[in-house]
Amino acid sequence: MSEAQITRREFMGSAIAGTAATGLALDTRAARANPAANTQVTVGIIGAGIRGLELMQAVLNVGGKVAVVCDLYDGHFRRAQEIQADTPTTREYREVLSRKDIQAVVIATADHWHAPIAIEAMKAGKDVYCEKPMTHTIPEALEMVKISKATGRLVQVGSQSISMTSTRKAREWVQAGQIGSVFMVQCSIYRPNAIGAWRYPVPPDASPKTVDWDRFQANVPKRPFDAARFFQFRNWYDYSAGIAGDEYVHLLSRVHYVLGVQYPRSAVSNGGIYKWTGDRDVPDIHNTMYDYGKFQALVNANLVCNWDGGEIVRFFGDKGTVELTEWAATLAPYNPIEEYLYPLEAWPKDLKDKFIEEHKSDPLADCGTARQQPQRQKETFKQEAEGTEDHFRNFFECVGTRKQPVEAVEFGCGTAVACHMANISYQKKQRVFWDAEKLALRV
Ligand SMILES: NC(=O)c1ccc[n+]([C@@H]2O[C@H](COP(=O)([O-])OP(=O)(O)OC[C@H]3O[C@@H](n4cnc5c(N)ncnc54)[C@H](O)[C@@H]3O)[C@@H](O)[C@H]2O)c1
Repeated sequence: MSEAQITRREFMGSAIAGTAATGLALDTRAARANPAANTQVTVGIIGAGIRGLELMQAVLNVGGKVAVVCDLYDGHFRRAQEIQADTPTTREYREVLSRKDIQAVVIATADHWHAPIAIEAMKAGKDVYCEKPMTHTIPEALEMVKISKATGRLVQVGSQSISMTSTRKAREWVQAGQIGSVFMVQCSIYRPNAIGAWRYPVPPDASPKTVDWDRFQANVPKRPFDAARFFQFRNWYDYSAGIAGDEYVHLLSRVHYVLGVQYPRSAVSNGGIYKWTGDRDVPDIHNTMYDYGKFQALVNANLVCNWDGGEIVRFFGDKGTVELTEWAATLAPYNPIEEYLYPLEAWPKDLKDKFIEEHKSDPLADCGTARQQPQRQKETFKQEAEGTEDHFRNFFECVGTRKQPVEAVEFGCGTAVACHMANISYQKKQRVFWDAEKLALRV
């Protein structure tokens, strides 16, 4: 498989398979050199499905301790115990929160349980590592910020790309002015296959006995047992924040981090269900145009066709472009020749010759002087580690030092609001606005 075909999911898969990620982020090197950064934190995993079990492994890989695993499907308990023998298990997350030995919880449930559990956890005195999207709704995101401040508990949101060295390199380039002023950002995620469209296989033993369906739907409209809704929850807005919650948040986290913004001003979405029809209400194409005031951001997301695959963010400045993929950051400076000769072709010869003579050594002329800008070379910075373990190292260090983690609750609130704006615009078929002063949505 070529490097360009390795996606975040595959990268994580190979790390979990036992080859701990080979590259070390800049901060990781610092963390290893600093014993205070290696605080051993005892966690409870809440939501131990595909992602929760990856996170369990990541916690163990960076020296954390997993004291208990909470989930609603028995098969995941057996898998957790294959990762760490004799791990205690429970279906009741409040049992995890009541344990005195647990400093932090790792929440990787379906989206509709992130905020309710995180808020209770903070009130119970636990720090929280919460998967993205931080919440299922905008009011929950604002509440998480409030509760984190009131309780002094830390939140690290799980968009691990913030801990990737390539994302940091992109920020360094952009903030140093290497591409000038950024007026336009383009993000894309194309995932055309069945797994990309969340048609996950349902375990053959799934039944109301092995799955705690009542707990799963305790805070949403009740339905008879439905294994698809449980194991493929992303296809329904009752449990998920759709493509926006699944993929926009990864892309927009990079945008917000690199450009230092928290909220968009408005969003307008289009989309629909084109290929993966049947019982679902989440679209398989969802495109959104955001206005951030200083720049526009276009998010192009589909689960039906492919171009170059993976997650891509391009920052377009007036002096160059920075592109972030899942495996590299690339700086492509523009090397323009300032050129005034083209419009002068319509002038009579005497005027043209006079103008050229007068402007040939005039570097500041608005219309340009036929001169070459300094040539800058394209640079590529290769990403080696997937980010999750470094994200945990940062979180665990902060649990010890009480500093805010790299993807703290206010940051998570910003990307959650942006993702929910895209969903609301899609559902209401209209542009929606965010008032960052009043923290209020206007539809
Ligand atoms: N950061 C990343 O790269 C990344 C990757 C994958 C998934 N995720 C996020 O992780 C979350 C989970 O995704 P997944 O693919 O693992 O889904 P999944 O369906 O495999 O796992 C979710 C698990 O949550 C459990 N659960 C649901 N409600 C619960 C409750 N009230 N108490 C305890 N357990 C509960 C279910 O039993 C299930 O096993 C999603 O929010 C997703 O967006 C993030």
